[in-house]
Amino acid sequence: MIRTPLTDLLGIRLPIIQGGMQWLATGELAAAVSNAGGLGTICALSFPSADEFRDELKKAKGLTDKPICVNISMLPVVTSNDIYDIYFDILLEEGVRVVETSGRSPEGFVPRLKQAGVKIIHKVPAVRFARKAESLGVDAVTVVGYECGGHPGLDDVTSLILIQKAARTIKIPIVAAGGYCDGRGLLAALALGASGILMGTRFMATKECIAHPNFKSWMMKAQETDTMIVERSIRNPARVRRNKAAEEVLELEKQGATLADLLPHISGKMGLEAYRSGDLDMGVIACGQIVGALDDVPSVRELMDRIASEADETLGRLTGICAGRNGHRA
Ligand SMILES: Cc1cc2nc3c(=O)[nH]c(=O)nc-3n(C[C@H](O)[C@H](O)[C@H](O)COP(=O)(O)O)c2cc1C
Repeated sequence: MIRTPLTDLLGIRLPIIQGGMQWLATGELAAAVSNAGGLGTICALSFPSADEFRDELKKAKGLTDKPICVNISMLPVVTSNDIYDIYFDILLEEGVRVVETSGRSPEGFVPRLKQAGVKIIHKVPAVRFARKAESLGVDAVTVVGYECGGHPGLDDVTSLILIQKAARTIKIPIVAAGGYCDGRGLLAALALGASGILMGTRFMATKECIAHPNFKSWMMKAQETDTMIVERSIRNPARVRRNKAAEEVLELEKQGATLADLLPHISGKMGLEAYRSGDLDMGVIACGQIVGALDDVPSVRELMDRIASEADETLGRLTGICAGRNGHRA
């Protein structure tokens, strides 16, 4: 057990959150993370119909009695709030107690969720957005750095800088994200002032993740330089695997493509097909730079237990260093 303001807020044993991942953040993965002591997340928008989303929540509830989070990604291409209201209706009916919002300000949704007693974690790529979210009354903020898989924002600032800066002024719990995969990273985040970490890329390479085995094999060989940023020209940068589809998107952007031109290439549906078929050239697939540091595909339980014991060992080593003893790693 590691106790922080985040674990107290959420009633969890380890300050580790599994990030929302389109198509991959299923009830099974989320339940495995929550059962192992962290907070698992189901991505609402991966379930295009209300019934499918409700079924997934029921499935997760059947797999764990621990808290589960639902991610609501507010996409720039979706301009009406109606679709999100449908997801909120269902998650409230199904008794979900934690929601992660991302993509844009959750302003319109905070009063309703707070009134229902739901804890809101808003994910942001910059300290100024974290401050704004705090002022709106969210319960915690996840701050993602430039190294992250998915959307790192427009500023290109790494997690190392963002977390230190956020910790100086933000009073609510801060979750550090972008580039974390182990117990040393967890302790580093806590040292910088965060109350926990959120990981996406690391959870992709676990047994419970439904991505085709070809993706996991690629991840075992990938280097930290094997990701790239696309969609910067439409002010929605995304860090993705370097593959044929991503290179084509970049080329289209250089030629001045509009959002409408890019949509067929960046649509999530291509990603779903890629995860199912194992075609590594297809679709733009979110992936963080930390992929270069991964070398196994453990079960979620193995991963979480390992992170907890690595954090413990690291703390012992650091305590020794601070006491003036030799701090070489065994
Ligand atoms: C495959 C994949 C899909 C993702 N899809 C989403 C998403 O739909 N919504 C969202 O808010 N974040 C999404 N993310 C971002 C993660 O929730 C998280 O912020 C990020 O992975 C953290 O950085 P890391 O990859 O270095 O751990 C995705 C990340 C990955 C790797």
